[in-house]
Order: sequence, then structure tokens, then C-alpha cells
Amino acid sequence: MLSEKMLNALNEQLNKELFSAYFYFGIAAYFKERSLDGFASWMEAQAEEELGHALRFYDYIFDRGGRVELERIEKPKQEFESPLKAFEAVYLHEVGVTQSIFKLVDLAKEENDHATYNFLQWFVQEQVEEEASTKTIVDKLKIIGDSPQGIFMLDRELGARGSQLRSLLTQKA
Ligand code: FEO
Repeated sequence: MLSEKMLNALNEQLNKELFSAYFYFGIAAYFKERSLDGFASWMEAQAEEELGHALRFYDYIFDRGGRVELERIEKPKQEFESPLKAFEAVYLHEVGVTQSIFKLVDLAKEENDHATYNFLQWFVQEQVEEEASTKTIVDKLKIIGDSPQGIFMLDRELGARGSQLRSLLTQKA
């Protein structure tokens, strides 16, 4: 059974993961509006991954006999000065998510909640990957600068990461 404090913190994180998905859909729309379909596709895949993260928290709360409490999801920013600024915002967002996962781990330790501590280890590792992959794209965009050719090439590269859910969910019956 989860303590009330742990349950509230897990529900808060569930909201943050749902917000992350919303945030990334907003950035995908920013890219799509500019016909940067590869960037948009990468961001849509990222948004889907966040829904997966939210589901992990959702399932875990139920598995431990807790009550899922869904809260309002904040409106995300959809305007950025450039692809670099958009990806810098993504990187900073992931750094913030890492901090909130670490806080959850600290709380699980404080409460001697070994099951939650164990559950969170997947996220600790995932955040290492999330920060690394977004930082790499920020670095590439810094190298590219204002080169349209560089943006075009990176758009092609990022487009290789396609949305998994889109084809499943948008199939016509
Ligand atoms: Fe759910 Fe990108 O962290």
C-alpha cells in the first residue's frame, strides 16, 4: 500500500508525464506548421513515449491499491524563435523531469517504500537517455546555425524516428 504522501507525489508525476506529451505535441505542431515534417515526426514519437510514461505511473498506482487523480493539464507553449530554441526548451524540460524523478526516488527512500524505489529505477535510466538524445540534437542545431541545408539534412535524419501510434490509431475501419 502506498502512503498518502507517496500516492500524491506519483499522481503529480502522472500529470507531469501527460503534460510532457502535450508539450511535445505542441512543439510537433510548431514544426509541422513550418513543413519540417522530420522534426515533427520525431516530436510526435517523443509525445507518444510520454504517454507510455504516464501509463506506467497510472498502472503502478492501481497495482499498489492507490487512486489515480487526474488534474488539469497546463497549456503548452507552441511558439519558438527557431528549431534550436524549441529543442533547447525540450532539453531543459527533460532536465526538470529528471529532477522530479530524483525527488520521487528520495521520497521512496525516506518512506522505505522499496517497491516504488524499484519501480522508479526504470525512469532514472530513461532520463539519462532522454537528456542525452535531446542534448545531441541541441548540439547539432548549434553547429548547423542558420544553414537551410543543415536544417534540411537534420529534418531527414529525425524523420527516421516515426510515430508508432499514428498508423495504428488513424487506420480507417
Ligand atoms: Fe517522461 Fe521525457 O520524460
